[in-house]
Amino acid sequence: MVILSDVICLLIFPLAHAAPCFLPPLRPRAHLLSRSRVRSALCGHSSTVAPLVTSSRRAAIAVAFGAAAEALWVASNLKTIQQDNDVLKQELFSAIRPSSGVRDILEIGFGRNANQDFYTEIAERTGGLRVTGLDKRRVSLREADTMKRSAAEHGVTLDVMDGKAEALPFPDGSFDAVVCSFTLCSVDDPPQVFREASRVLRPGGKMIMIEHIAAREGTGLRAVQNAVTPIQAGLIGCHLTRSTDALVQSTVRPSADGEAPLFSSMDLCRVIDRNAFVFFPETPVLLSVVTK
Ligand SMILES: C[S@@+](CC[C@H](N)C(=O)[O-])C[C@H]1O[C@@H](n2cnc3c(N)ncnc32)[C@H](O)[C@@H]1O
Repeated sequence: MVILSDVICLLIFPLAHAAPCFLPPLRPRAHLLSRSRVRSALCGHSSTVAPLVTSSRRAAIAVAFGAAAEALWVASNLKTIQQDNDVLKQELFSAIRPSSGVRDILEIGFGRNANQDFYTEIAERTGGLRVTGLDKRRVSLREADTMKRSAAEHGVTLDVMDGKAEALPFPDGSFDAVVCSFTLCSVDDPPQVFREASRVLRPGGKMIMIEHIAAREGTGLRAVQNAVTPIQAGLIGCHLTRSTDALVQSTVRPSADGEAPLFSSMDLCRVIDRNAFVFFPETPVLLSVVTK
């Protein structure tokens, strides 16, 4: 299955990268971060198509074939991708130490509570945790109830609400930590999200992030990201070419017009150049922790 899909993918440029955003999170156990697969994008277009096939039909066939190849590839590698992400998240969430007194966490871009396992671990370490999950997508009462019950079984008090990360509906200093996990790629205004996160954090509170960011300029992967981003941003609002690492660094410096930095220190800012997934170009990944 993997080989077949890889062969197809090598012949046809990928057209969509949306599948992982619509699939429910896996709960993998193994850690396979070291698995390395480097693919190159080849567009082996043939001009020898039967004359009866019109160019619009050719385009439609190419689109359908490309989308099928893409879906096959993503499906066959999805588990590995999520395992990679979970290894990185493990490191990120370990920034929340029992001694840090974290009791109240806000996650922006909460989705379907993909980070529940990590919240459970924190609750076990700290002896109880409240999580507020905010997402611009409204969840049904039933879905919210299911998530809350499941969290409660693991010692986490969960509130789920809809709202925008750019205008958080909370007073200043409400949370001990703000979590942002694969969300800054799709918000409308990332600098405003940092301003809001800083505002709702108490002094000494931490913003912790795992985000995919733009590949280096001039690389093949960056060319793929540049090509795919307009489609992907249009379809699911996810941008592949955001320099969130530079943005994080700017939050610990005074602004150009002399305003105080949003955060007092940067505890972690690590860019992981993991596998060059040409067919899943949500890489490199940024792990970052800043303290207010
Ligand atoms: C790729 S999903 C990430 C979900 C989850 N945090 C995870 O780690 O898998 C991005 C989420 O951010 C949400 N989102 C995008 N823009 C947002 C905004 N401006 N405010 C709040 N949520 C937003 C989307 O609805 C989506 O659920």
